Amino acid sequence: METINAIMTRRSIRAFTGDPISKDTLDVLLSAAVAAPSGGNRQPWTFIVLCNQKRLKALRSLAPGMIDMPAAVVALCLDIPRATIKEKGDIDEMAWLDLGAAMQNILLAAHDLNLGACPVGSFHEQGVSALLNLPPHLKLALLIAIGIPAIKPAAPIKRPFEEVVFFEEYGGNGGSRDA
Ligand SMILES: Cc1cc2nc3c(=O)[nH]c(=O)nc-3n(C[C@H](O)[C@H](O)[C@H](O)COP(=O)(O)O)c2cc1C
Repeated sequence: METINAIMTRRSIRAFTGDPISKDTLDVLLSAAVAAPSGGNRQPWTFIVLCNQKRLKALRSLAPGMIDMPAAVVALCLDIPRATIKEKGDIDEMAWLDLGAAMQNILLAAHDLNLGACPVGSFHEQGVSALLNLPPHLKLALLIAIGIPAIKPAAPIKRPFEEVVFFEEYGGNGGSRDA
């Protein structure tokens, strides 16, 4: 699939057939995550993959945003020491963008492989962290539910290009490139 086409046709998929996904396929998705860009190449992430049905059920009971039972879930965690600005001792807010890039790589790779995926930000952080046995240096950021799509949803309405994109300055429509 051509990249632009993949970007434009990706949808959040929230209904799955119940069929499993192979370990090799999951490895491709996670390799895409690992290949994401990050500020200073700090790679402030850890990914935890769940495929065990019993554990997926337990996870879903802690994640109201997970609509259907997926074949697998990837938990994206922020690695706090890697995300922290040493001199200040604070988390660099840019590190969240690094996780966003990893998320998008997983979503696009899933789409390219004809899988369905949906980010899930609505979850019980303490409960899921305990289920995943997260050490204190990892903060759970996002879940991604993945499975064989059971539906092909229509594209949701996106804000108009002209409302969110400006050229040269806020409110600018570009005008002549030579002027
Ligand atoms: C950070 C983040 C959190 C999200 N959390 C949820 C969620 O908890 N449940 C859900 O069904 N969709 C969730 N979504 C999916 C959005 O609802 C979806 O991306 C949006 O409606 C646009 O649809 P599209 O992905 O098909 O373009 C989340 C998306 C993002 C980026």
